Amino acid sequence: MVEIRDYTDSDYEDVKINLEEVGMFNPQLDTRENLRIKITKNPGSVIVAVVDNHAIGNAYIVYDGWNAFIFRLVTRKGYRMQGIGSLLMDEAESRLRKKGAKEVSLFIKEAELEHLERYYTKRGYVHRKGKYQAMYKIL
Ligand SMILES: CC(C)(COP(=O)(O)OP(=O)(O)OC[C@H]1O[C@@H](n2cnc3c(N)ncnc32)[C@H](O)[C@@H]1OP(=O)(O)O)[C@@H](O)C(=O)NCCC(=O)NCCS
Repeated sequence: MVEIRDYTDSDYEDVKINLEEVGMFNPQLDTRENLRIKITKNPGSVIVAVVDNHAIGNAYIVYDGWNAFIFRLVTRKGYRMQGIGSLLMDEAESRLRKKGAKEVSLFIKEAELEHLERYYTKRGYVHRKGKYQAMYKIL
């Protein structure tokens, strides 16, 4: 049985494992403290998929009233292809819809382009016109 629910602080180590397994853990951003701040400022903005008391999947929701994003969608290896990623996406989108978001964006890894394009296209996502590359700066 899979349960999709709000992330709590005690899920941190599991989420870290999920992100590390796929090279998506950012030691600057994905700290326990940052997630604490995120869920305090925006309750319900991190969701987890729980099996046997372990968060084996997660997604972060970002919405400030202007634009909405989904980040860090991961299902741990061994639990994939059972619809867990889809449950997380459905829940994230449903939460955004309830908050009034009119569209949602996400970034896909170039290394996984083919799989992920298929994955998200099947779920109704389309490419934005123009080519964009993500850039960042340490503050
Ligand atoms: C993408 C991901 C979350 C899907 O999780 P999941 O629990 O297996 O998802 P579901 O069971 O709902 O759906 C499985 C689908 O993924 C497809 N798939 C298989 N391998 C895949 C891969 N390497 N990457 C993406 N999708 C894949 C399957 O074909 C299946 O498609 P279908 O719905 O058309 O049958 C999971 O593969 C993952 O964690 N990947 C690594 C992290 C990642 O790249 N996340 C996306 C960041 S943008």
